[in-house]
Amino acid sequence: MEFSEIVARRRSIKTYDSSKTIDREELQHLFAEVALSPSAFNLQHWTFVAVMDPDQKKKLREAAWDQPQVEECSVALVVCGKLDAFEDVEQIYQETPDEVQAKVVPMVRDFYRGKEQLQRDEAIRGATLAAMTLMLCAKNRGWDTGPMIGFDSEAVSRLVRLTPNFIPVMLVVLGTARGDIRPRAYRRPVAEFVRIDALDGPGLS
Ligand SMILES: Cc1cc2nc3c(=O)[nH]c(=O)nc-3n(C[C@H](O)[C@H](O)[C@H](O)COP(=O)(O)O)c2cc1C
Repeated sequence: MEFSEIVARRRSIKTYDSSKTIDREELQHLFAEVALSPSAFNLQHWTFVAVMDPDQKKKLREAAWDQPQVEECSVALVVCGKLDAFEDVEQIYQETPDEVQAKVVPMVRDFYRGKEQLQRDEAIRGATLAAMTLMLCAKNRGWDTGPMIGFDSEAVSRLVRLTPNFIPVMLVVLGTARGDIRPRAYRRPVAEFVRIDALDGPGLS
């Protein structure tokens, strides 16, 4: 598939063929591509909990406003953001020259330390970009997906045993679509959402 076709054909799918499974090898291929997502200072804030066990999926569905796709899908992914990813900077930069490490490691720590809002924003940004990569790569490999924010954050955190330095950013259900796909909903025109030079500048046309 051409990349533009992948973008055009990715949809948020709500009904899945529950007989379809996904194996770990396929997940490995998919996440090898997700690993290439961009992140601030390359800190790679994302961690995915792949919920595959039927009982665990059932519980996740309960924590996700009882939305059936969480149980029907082949795998439900809890996309998590790591709040203290900046503490990993030494590990991330271990292969860079000493002079780069000497500059970047303290700089990154100073930038984030003690700034809870920034840490949270960055965790959400990083995890969200990885989730988008996941959805497009999944489509490219023949899978359908659906991003979801309809869940109880605390219940999901408890269920998948997140430690306090992780937040559940969204769920992404992945599987094979079942039934008709509803028509694409309204999209704001480009001229409305792209402004030249300033927010009150002319729209792109
Ligand atoms: C962050 C986010 C959260 C969403 N949460 C849900 C959800 O909980 N349940 C659901 O059915 N769809 C959810 N959606 C899907 C949106 O409704 C969907 O992306 C939007 O209507 C556009 O449809 P499309 O992706 O097929 O173009 C979510 C999408 C995003 C990006």
